[in-house]
Amino acid sequence: MEVTKAVIPAAGFGTRFLPVTKAQPKEMMPVLDKPTIQYVVEEAVVAGIDDILIITGRGKQAIERHFDKSYELEEELEADGKLDRLDRVQDIADLADIHYVRQKEREGLGDAVQYARKHVGDEPFALLLGDTIIENETPCTESLVAAAEEHDSSVLSLERVPWEDVPSYGVADTEEVDPNANSFPVNDFVEKPPRDEAPSNLAITGRYVLKPEIFELLEATEKGVGGELQLTDAIRKLDTVRGVELDGDRYDIGNIPSWLEANVEMALKHDDGDINAAVEAFLEGRDE
Ligand code: G1P
Repeated sequence: MEVTKAVIPAAGFGTRFLPVTKAQPKEMMPVLDKPTIQYVVEEAVVAGIDDILIITGRGKQAIERHFDKSYELEEELEADGKLDRLDRVQDIADLADIHYVRQKEREGLGDAVQYARKHVGDEPFALLLGDTIIENETPCTESLVAAAEEHDSSVLSLERVPWEDVPSYGVADTEEVDPNANSFPVNDFVEKPPRDEAPSNLAITGRYVLKPEIFELLEATEKGVGGELQLTDAIRKLDTVRGVELDGDRYDIGNIPSWLEANVEMALKHDDGDINAAVEAFLEGRDE
């Protein structure tokens, strides 16, 4: 099997980040100089995928504008001789073939994914949540695609989280995980379990490669936790699902501490020496 398409759901409200998300999508929250969703699109592109469907909704037009060509801005930058900035702006519009579909009502992640059915057709696809940045030496989606192609299976990225956080996630039920295995089979999943009923603390991180059977399974799935159609409830019905344990950094941008952490840690690793030196000096100053 070959994974050539990616789907990025970006339709949810950013309620935890109000009021900043009142008039702008949470996926456009900047981390340093780029909006969150640009990191997500770039992760798919690095995995060799340049056909991307973004699932948007009301109030999300800024996302389309961001990935579109910007004639006036480009002309102005060119006229002013700001060619490095011009390159950066042009690169965004050339990143990938980006398509959009709007989710009409917010009925959960499972419902959002169903909007991808026509575009994806009968092919496996990568799914990347638009409000989550994952930084890893080998980009997360690239590892998932490799495991999915090797085992001809759906594959999810999983991460050990503190037990008290388990009720915020979909959680995997697995045999003991071999630390040397690139991927491992998962028997079952449960969406947002109470801590004392969770089969493990291996949480779904927001990166998936799914086989197209998921669409039929979603159709046959009832609404679940929170009265929403839960993707996890359909994933557990797939014939085989494998997990890949994440060893990179994951930032959930819908939540303020995680967003701040992303900015600080990514500034410290930024390839612009002035930025990391300034942030490092600021942090050192605060320690004293
Ligand atoms: C969604 C998924 C959940 C996953 C989480 C990762 O939940 O339903 O399985 O663990 O994303 O961020 P949400 O955060 O949308 O409530």
